[in-house]
Amino acid sequence: MAIHIFKTVDALIIKLAEDIVASAQQAIASREEFNIVLSGGSSPEALYKILASPTYTNQVDWNKINFFFGDERNAPAEDPQNNAHMVREALFHPRNISAARIFAVDTSLPPEQAAKNYTKRISEHFKGKKIVFDLILLGLGDDAHTASLFPHTTVLADTFVSIQSVFVEKHNTFRITMTAPMINQARDIAVLVYGQGKAEAVHHVLEDEVNTEKYPAQLIQPVNGNLQWYVDEAAASGLRK
Ligand code: 6PG
Repeated sequence: MAIHIFKTVDALIIKLAEDIVASAQQAIASREEFNIVLSGGSSPEALYKILASPTYTNQVDWNKINFFFGDERNAPAEDPQNNAHMVREALFHPRNISAARIFAVDTSLPPEQAAKNYTKRISEHFKGKKIVFDLILLGLGDDAHTASLFPHTTVLADTFVSIQSVFVEKHNTFRITMTAPMINQARDIAVLVYGQGKAEAVHHVLEDEVNTEKYPAQLIQPVNGNLQWYVDEAAASGLRK
């Protein structure tokens, strides 16, 4: 595991964008496609907007990138709370990404059915073979959740490589999320965290006792892949120097 600490959020976002593009170039060169899983919330929006900027237009064949989601809220596709809606505005529309390359959760279905349907679509994309994403982007909540793996929820104990629906008491809503085993099969995992508000969670996850019920992001331990944290100084301020 590597922890990259940046003085500013801008520096963090630019480095992560460059690393994503490099990862995409490598995957496309060797496997003709790049399967990336995006995270939602507010932190990654600036990253998606940078990736949509002219700087990266010619740096990678955008037509060979398939976009997936690590989790989704139980919100309609046009709802600003919907993660895919945020990415559509920040990246897919500006980049003119074909709908065939966007694998979003069908939130028009009830949560459990949406999760089953998404699992099936992903399995079909991988032609029934092992589901190994090239890169999974994750965020971190101030309660140390990642994707929609929230503290003290049933999905934390799930040992299957799948997408599950889970009721999150804290938000009084259902979420749809990749399980930790699905995330941990990835070639590369990048956790994007910035802001003072995340400092305690970063400390708990990286330095505190191992307690995945309390700090679910501790579940993120790639089996064969690489785990990299991209953290600004504010979010890293709780780490022992
Ligand atoms: C979501 C995300 C979630 C997010 C964290 C951090 O659906 O909200 O997938 O896991 O990454 O909650 O969110 P912020 O970046 O908004 O702090």
